[in-house]
This record gives sequence, structure tokens and C-alpha cells, in this order.
Amino acid sequence: MALIEIRNLWKEYGQQVVLEQLNKTVGEGEFITIVGASGCGKTTFLKMLLGTESVSRGQLLLDGKPLPGEPGPERGIVFQRYSVFPHLSVLGNVMLSLELEKSPLLGRLFGGARKTAEKLAKEMIDAVGLGQAMHKYPHELSGGMQQRLALAQSLIKRPRILLLDEPFGALDPGIRADMHQLVLSLWQEHKLTVFMITHDIKEGFYLGTRLWVFDKCRFDPQAPNAYGAQITYDLPVGQTDGHLLKKSPPRAAEKVPPPLPDKYRRNLWNQVFTNIPCPARVIGLCVCGVGFV
Ligand SMILES: Nc1ncnc2c1ncn2[C@@H]1O[C@H](COP(=O)(O)OP(=O)(O)OP(=O)(O)O)[C@@H](O)[C@H]1O
Ligand SMILES: [Mg+2]
Repeated sequence: MALIEIRNLWKEYGQQVVLEQLNKTVGEGEFITIVGASGCGKTTFLKMLLGTESVSRGQLLLDGKPLPGEPGPERGIVFQRYSVFPHLSVLGNVMLSLELEKSPLLGRLFGGARKTAEKLAKEMIDAVGLGQAMHKYPHELSGGMQQRLALAQSLIKRPRILLLDEPFGALDPGIRADMHQLVLSLWQEHKLTVFMITHDIKEGFYLGTRLWVFDKCRFDPQAPNAYGAQITYDLPVGQTDGHLLKKSPPRAAEKVPPPLPDKYRRNLWNQVFTNIPCPARVIGLCVCGVGFV
């Protein structure tokens, strides 16, 4: 069964249609990268997956059931801007995620439960490479380290679905490449299903198993808010032969994404062609035909 099903999904804010007619199925272990123009509704879509934004029309299903209308432990998110607590150390930040989950009223664990939480938190901090900075505070960390901390905070709750909203936008290229390796290995190790928004198309091709493009197919200059974005391309990228979780983390020498394979080029052409409105395709073919004669 599909992990996530999106059936004729619409999102409207008052008169503004942000997203329209989204129909997709996502299986466990897929890595969906999302690109699209600013303001086209990518974050809104992620928030609907998280459960902090409601669906206006249509259905969003998790394991065949309507997705809970509030964030749950099976879904973790990392935002573009660092979202850690400045007054807590690295260990404190990661521990708090567990404490809030296990003791929502007090936000604090005691005795054996606290020791277990601390052990788990330390393991996760090591996994994201922050073992040496366990007792530092966020202002003492670099941008990349803060994003590692945000990832640890999210992953400590063992989510099945990881939502990433431009998590590396503010990082310099070297640290970004390190974060790519980290995310790929965490994706593999924790068997996550990932939805990641990026403005960097190379990053989208490189990390994802599927690349979605959000765009408006219809636009009325008299009523710019009348139509929303759709998923205009759904491109298989990377390894898509059914062994999705076997994608290896890139080695240092492979950090630059390889050129697009022919398979993808053909696919892109098909997608472009099938997205040209039908009358335009017919006219185009007629013009070519007349030219040939
Ligand atoms: N809570 C809200 N109330 C009303 N309108 C909203 C709300 N949140 C978002 N919008 C509108 O929805 C549209 C899509 O916003 P969204 O943040 O999803 O875009 P985005 O694709 O993530 O853009 P960016 O790439 O700049 O982050 C925008 O026009 C925005 O003004
Ligand atoms: Mg956004």
C-alpha cells in the first residue's frame, strides 16, 4: 500500500487558490525533492503533510487513512531557518524533543527514563557528527552545525516521514555537500521517506529519487489568485529500480552531480511534450508537416 496518497488536493486561503488538483502516490522509502517558483505553495504543501495546515478540498492519506490534522511523531520537520532553542545546549535541545514527546505536560523526564533519553540523544548527536559539541549552545555553533542539530532534533523521535523545507539554503557549498552526505546516510539508515524543498535544482536531481516541479499551468492576469500551482513534472531521478534504499551516500569525489542520463532526457522531453496543450501540439505538427511537404 502507498504510504502517502494525494487525491485531488486543493489549498485555498480565502479567495487565493494556492494549490489545485494535486494527485500523487508516494511509497515508503522514496526521496521526493520539490522545486518551484517562490510563493507557489511548496511550504504550504509541506505544512499540510505535517498537519499544521488544513486541506481545503480533496484528500491527503497516510497509510490509506486521512492524515491526522496535527503534527505527530511519525512526521518530523526541519525548516530553512534554524529552529533550535537558543537557551539549551546541543544535548538539551535534542533531549527536549524526547521529553516533550514522552512527558508532554512537564516537558521533563526523571530517573531511569531520563537516563535512557540521554543515551538515545547522545547516540543521535554522534550520528549527525556533533559529538564534540554536545555541551555547546546554538550561538557557539556554525550554521551547518545548527542544521545538524535541527536534524538530530527531528530524527530522535524516529519519524517515518522527514519534511525538509530548504534546510541547506543558508549554508556555504562545502558544508552543504557534507549535509548532503549526512541526509543520504540518515535516509538510508532510518529508512525514511523524505520530502525536501530546494531552490537548487542540482541538489534536487542529486538527492532525490523523484523530482517534483510545482508550477501554475493556468494564469489570468486579471485574477492572479484564481488559479493555483500543480505538480507539472514528476521526474524519476537517481536510482528508481525498486532498490530505493540502496542509494549509497556519495563519496567526496562524487559530490558534483553526474550529467543527466539519456533515460532522464527522454523522460523530460516526454513530459515537456505531454504538457504542451493539445491544440498547440496539433498546430505544431501541422506546421512541421507543411514545411516538410
Ligand atoms: N497562513 C497564510 N495565510 C494566507 N496566505 C498564506 C498563508 N501561508 C501562505 N500563504 C500564501 O500562500 C502562497 C504560497 O506560500 P508558500 O509559503 O507555500 O510558498 P513557497 O512556494 O514555499 O514560497 P518560497 O519558495 O518563497 O518559500 C503565498 O502567496 C503566500 O502568501
Ligand atoms: Mg517556502
